[in-house]
Amino acid sequence: MIRLHVNVDHIATLRNARGTSYPDPVFAAQLCEQAGADGITCHLREDRRHIRDDDVDRLRAAVATRLNLEMAATAEMCAIAERVRPDVITLVPERREERTTEGGLDVIGARATIEPIARMCARVGIELSLFIAPDPKQVDASHAVGAGQVELHTGEYCHLMGEPRDVEFERLRAAARHATALGLDVAAGHGLTRHNVIAVAAIREVAEVNIGHALIADAALVGLERAVGGFRAALERGLRRR
Ligand code: PXP
Repeated sequence: MIRLHVNVDHIATLRNARGTSYPDPVFAAQLCEQAGADGITCHLREDRRHIRDDDVDRLRAAVATRLNLEMAATAEMCAIAERVRPDVITLVPERREERTTEGGLDVIGARATIEPIARMCARVGIELSLFIAPDPKQVDASHAVGAGQVELHTGEYCHLMGEPRDVEFERLRAAARHATALGLDVAAGHGLTRHNVIAVAAIREVAEVNIGHALIADAALVGLERAVGGFRAALERGLRRR
């Protein structure tokens, strides 16, 4: 079993491109759930370039599976999460000028800003996930700060070719194993497509994938139901390789 979480940010990107009320990320989330997604992810960025505050509120009310709110480790976002109560929050590094989340969180360096958020999560019953590079030191730090899950950044693996890609894949596999040994749940995400997700799903310890851009791109051409189904089929292929 591997959980498929769909990130609906780019439905909001399309909506915001024309300042319309459609397409609605909340309706998209419901269609993804109907098509078999195990959870819905959205990223409320500091600049609100795609998902907006009221989307998060409406997603909270509508999502019947699991709502994962990706956010920067700031006091503003911490207050929003405490009010909205997603099932899980994923802390990500965020820079205004980046096109998408570019690196993993430096949990060691950012410990002082993560700890109050970890305490809030524990107090109100939100699960905490940290988006990190597949680096054993970051896995250790995530465990030490009280996260229940790490989401391993697959962006490097997705962009590399040839031998460097194999090396990066082994880093992912080792980090997943290490995290599981510490009792952490392991997710993976960023840059995943129907093709490259198969090998990631074949890593025994990976319990969840978070997929946005490639799935929404598929949906633009074939519809959300078929897009979710296509990714589910790819995950099944990976599971058979375990
Ligand atoms: N996981 C995290 C933590 C992310 O920040 C993103 C991008 O928003 C994703 C997964 C999804 O990446 P992609 O859109 O490349 O599938």
